[in-house]
Amino acid sequence: MAIKLKGSGFMLKIADTKEALNHCFEIRKQVFVDEQGVPPSLEIDQYEDEATHVLLTEYGCPIATGRFREYKDGIKIERVAVIKSHRKLGLGKKVLDYIEYQAKSNNKTKFYLNAQTQAIPFYESLGYYKYGDVFKDAGISHYAMVKEA
Ligand code: COA
Repeated sequence: MAIKLKGSGFMLKIADTKEALNHCFEIRKQVFVDEQGVPPSLEIDQYEDEATHVLLTEYGCPIATGRFREYKDGIKIERVAVIKSHRKLGLGKKVLDYIEYQAKSNNKTKFYLNAQTQAIPFYESLGYYKYGDVFKDAGISHYAMVKEA
């Protein structure tokens, strides 16, 4: 179910059309490849087809994305990205809330993710805890994090 954020032009939905999915990939390219220097060959991976992709738009313009897929006893959240001009406005939180809502609707209440170290305060503010040791993925330091609803 798509959600319109009250009093704004923001809309959150599952990217279930080719056009919406391409918008998700465009945001990810802008953020992870162009901004963070992740190689395009690693940014798109083998989980794209099985994952559910989420798109946040403002009056139809792509602003933020994230994806999730079944993992262990819950879901794994990946590729969360907000375009640079729209950060610190609460939109990343909306994407996470929407993913968690979708997961809970499917009786999945444990949410896993690998967080870049710079993004840990963002996930901690949403109730995620880090565990284990730091590790590198695509040359970027990460910690595993988890939240139980
Ligand atoms: N450091 C500290 N706190 C941060 C933060 C940061 N870098 N980014 C967000 N927060 C906090 C906010 O202050 C806010 O806290 P509050 O509710 O107490 O006010 C909370 O996290 C929610 O922030 P929000 O505005 O929803 O975050 P955002 O829309 O800027 O999205 C990211 C956060 C990480 C998704 C966004 O910065 C981004 O796309 N970064 C580049 C890609 C990336 O790093 N993705 C994550 C890969 S693991």
